[in-house]
Amino acid sequence: MKTLIVYDTKHGCTQSAAATLKNLLRGDVTVAHVKERSGLDLNAFDIVIVGGSIHAGRVQRRIKNFCEENLAILEKKRLGLYLCCMYEGEKATAQFEGAFPEKLRKHAAAVGLFGGVVDFDKMNFVERAIVRKVSGVSETVSNVKEDAIERFAACFS
Ligand SMILES: Cc1cc2nc3c(=O)[nH]c(=O)nc-3n(C[C@H](O)[C@H](O)[C@H](O)COP(=O)(O)O)c2cc1C
Repeated sequence: MKTLIVYDTKHGCTQSAAATLKNLLRGDVTVAHVKERSGLDLNAFDIVIVGGSIHAGRVQRRIKNFCEENLAILEKKRLGLYLCCMYEGEKATAQFEGAFPEKLRKHAAAVGLFGGVVDFDKMNFVERAIVRKVSGVSETVSNVKEDAIERFAACFS
């Protein structure tokens, strides 16, 4: 089995989740930043996993473009979709629904909300202000859900 994990990230949480998935998945796993997408041949993979993160309510535009540009082929793959974000529950679900096209969400063999990390040392002044407003958090917090990552990976075993 050949697996491709395509991700985008601002401060590394989604990338770190991709690395954790790579360790948990069997077979040949390629991890690539979505910026490298033009060099990727999706036909070469059995499983494709797409991961993004939420900033000010939205997933990265590059992740949206990747899903839209490759909708037809992704619908034919064993597919996983995951998101890193700080919100939980209904708010997180709403962000997930806004992040990925409905067709892909319905088709996916695994979907995951992996939590997130708010790292004040990696943020600039504006980002700190946004995070304080959005989440009320004012210091570094890690809320990564390792159990959710493990459950997600188990869907491909
Ligand atoms: C400027 C900024 C805005 C954010 N906005 C949201 C948000 O609207 N909703 C949310 O659930 N998390 C929000 N977060 C939390 C991120 O989703 C979280 O830090 C995540 O781990 C980022 O992953 P990344 O480092 O891979 O980009 C925000 C974080 C930053 C820095």
